[in-house]
Formats: sequence, structure tokens, C-alpha cells
Amino acid sequence: MPGNEDEKYLVIFQPSGCRGYIEKGKTLKEASVALGVDIEGVCGEKAICGTCKVRIEEGNFEKYGITSTRDNLSPIGPTERKFFNLQQEEEGYRLACQTKIMGDVVIFVPEESRMGKQVVRKAATDRPIEVKPAVKKYYVELKKATLEDTLGDWERLSNELSKKYDLSNLTIDYQVLMELQNAVRDGDWKVTASIWHEKEVIKVEPGLVEKVYGLAVDVGTSTVAGYLCDMTDGSVVTTGSMMNPQVVYGEDVMSRISFTMTNPNGLEILNGAILDGLNGIAEEVAAAAGIKRQDIVDMSIVGNTCMHHIFLNTDPKYIGRSPFPPSIHHSIDLKARDWGLKIEPEVEIAGKGTYPPCQVKCPAGVNGQDFSYLIAQGKFKEALELVRMAIPFAGVLGRICTHPCEAECERGDVDEPLSL
Ligand code: SF4
Ligand code: FES
Repeated sequence: MPGNEDEKYLVIFQPSGCRGYIEKGKTLKEASVALGVDIEGVCGEKAICGTCKVRIEEGNFEKYGITSTRDNLSPIGPTERKFFNLQQEEEGYRLACQTKIMGDVVIFVPEESRMGKQVVRKAATDRPIEVKPAVKKYYVELKKATLEDTLGDWERLSNELSKKYDLSNLTIDYQVLMELQNAVRDGDWKVTASIWHEKEVIKVEPGLVEKVYGLAVDVGTSTVAGYLCDMTDGSVVTTGSMMNPQVVYGEDVMSRISFTMTNPNGLEILNGAILDGLNGIAEEVAAAAGIKRQDIVDMSIVGNTCMHHIFLNTDPKYIGRSPFPPSIHHSIDLKARDWGLKIEPEVEIAGKGTYPPCQVKCPAGVNGQDFSYLIAQGKFKEALELVRMAIPFAGVLGRICTHPCEAECERGDVDEPLSL
């Protein structure tokens, strides 16, 4: 139980998950040493370097049986304060070497404060595919408006797109319409239109623009990987990745679902965390490619069912309860601006949830991927709970099931299917 009579408190470091009971009055830095968490500390804990910054995570962490709050730590003083701006202070940042433990806490160690910073890599594999981009660019030269020809700019553009590229029944995003007149004149009546699925004009740029960038993102339970693609030939220009920032609120899908159910703003917090992460990846890949985030005109995001619900801001509680129906099986298109994504705001984002093929094949819908992941982490109890959500008599079924899941296991393409 947290907070026992020896005046020790439960301290949990994320994203490593290292935890243990630490005496009241010890600093977070001392706790990190005791628990084997490597936090930077160049100045030897003298509050000079500021490299030991950590963030206090507040909320009810049912999984650990504690409520973490900044009141469970010594108050911030003027020495520490000079290392933080107002926003960081509001977000709960502290110096680990100056902050004393007065109660149970969950502490997030940001990447820049970790010694031997973790490198998350997900390389793209080259596979021959038919390139069918959702967004293509079309260059047109328009006739200038005159006193004899006062056709509207949009009609002028759509007529030309129809004549030159046989694109009919086009619509234009309202925000793009507001910028259209300037774009047309800045380009001396020569423009490039980005068109989504040959239906909607989502961007108009002055002059000829040939490059078309799209961002594909795989939101995994533990890592998020982004692939910036040249949509004219499907090649990967650059990649970016990070730990899923939701890890601090739970290491696996069950604990994240539980976090949304036990905290009043739980879904909002997890959704905000992944949006920040996606914006960070967009920024990272755009900088690496020497382009602006706004040059990304398409984004496609996939994730497992739980990640899918959280990034779409739809309540995941029903996928944690039998019979586990998702809010939607198919992909959904959303405007980047409506979703808080800082790429070209008019871009349609395709968000798609995926069920692993083994889970689709399992008559009971056992989530084999997460179940195997939990076992690999040594979390046997949690793994069993996950299986029991689908099949109460796991032992019996395990003996009689003909395991159709294994026929679908993609590991079979490499060597052998996993034996669930
Ligand atoms: S062995 Fe049977 S019950 Fe278990 S995951 Fe595979 S198909 Fe489902
Ligand atoms: S170790 Fe230098 S400020 Fe904390």
C-alpha cells in the first residue's frame, strides 16, 4: 500500500515504469538513483545546470493505487523557479535534485533529462506498391480577369482544371477560398492546386509547385513512428519517431482505458498527449526535410483499436467491455484544423484503426498482440486479465481451440507464427 507507516512513499518514474518506496524527505534525484533511473545531473545537484528537469504527473493512478499530486512534494522555491517559464511551472516541471518527496508521486522524466537518451527507431521497409495518393497537385495558367471577362476566381480555376485535367464537380474548402484571390495574383494567374481525391481543392499556391508531401504515422501503444513521403513516387523522404507520450498514463492499452475511466478528463489528457506527439513528429520530419509543416498536404494515421479511439477522441470504455464493439471499424477523414494538427490546416487526415489479423480470426476476439506484449514485459497477471476479458475459461479453451489465429500471424512470413 502507498504511504506506509515508515514514512516511505511510492515513487513511480515514467516512461521506464521503475518504481519503489522511498523515504520521506529524499529528493527525486536520490529516488531515481535508488530505483535505477538515470537522470542527468551535470552540476552535482547544486541547482546550477538545470539538466535534471522532471514533470510531476497529477491524477488518480488506479493501477498503482495512488493519487499523484504536486502537493506530495516540497514546494517550488526561487532557486528552482529561475529554470522554468510560467508554462513549464504550470505543467508541473521541477528540478529532481531540489524536490523532496512528501507523498506518493508519478514522475515523468523528459527525453532531454535522460542519461543515454533512448533512441526509438522504426525504419521504413521498401516494398513495391501502387502509388495512389489521396492528394495530387495540378498546375494551371488562368486567363487574367478583364472588364470584358469578370468571371469569379474560383469559377475560372475550376473551369481550367476541368478543361486541362478533366476534373469535374470540384469543391473548394472555405478557408482556401478566402486565400484564393491573393494566391492567384501573387502567382500572376499561374497557380498549383492541391486536390483531395479529385473532389476538393484543399490548397492553392502561387506558381508551379511540384513536390507533394504526405505524412504516414503509426501510433503504437509504446512508440509513434512517422514517415514523410514524397507522394509523387511513394518514396520515404525521412522518418521521425518517439515514445508514445501516453506511456506515462499507462504502459499498455488496458491501463490507458482504465485511466480514461477513472479520471474525469482522462480521455482529454490522453488525446492531448498524442496530438502533441503527432505535432512534434510533423515538426521533426519537416525540419529534417527542409520544408515547412504546412507543406504536408496529407496525413494518414493508423493505430490499434485503443490508440484509434483515443486519437479520435472517442470513448474507449466500450472496447474494454464485452462484446468490445469499436465506435467505428472503418477509416475516417478529418480536417487537420479541426483536430489541432499543425500541418496544412485544410488537409484531410485519414484516421484508421486496425485489428491485428490474429484478433480478427479469433472467434472470441482475443487481443493476441497486447497479450503477448504484456507477457514479454513480465506482466502475467495483466495478460491473463486481458485474455479473460474475451474468454472467461481461458485454460479450457486453450486446450480445445484449433488456434485459427496462428494461420493469420504475420510472423509466419518471417519464420513461424506465434503460438498463442
Ligand atoms: S488460440 Fe484460439 S482462443 Fe486463443 S487467441 Fe488463438 S483463436 Fe483465440
Ligand atoms: S543536477 Fe544540476 S540542477 Fe539538478
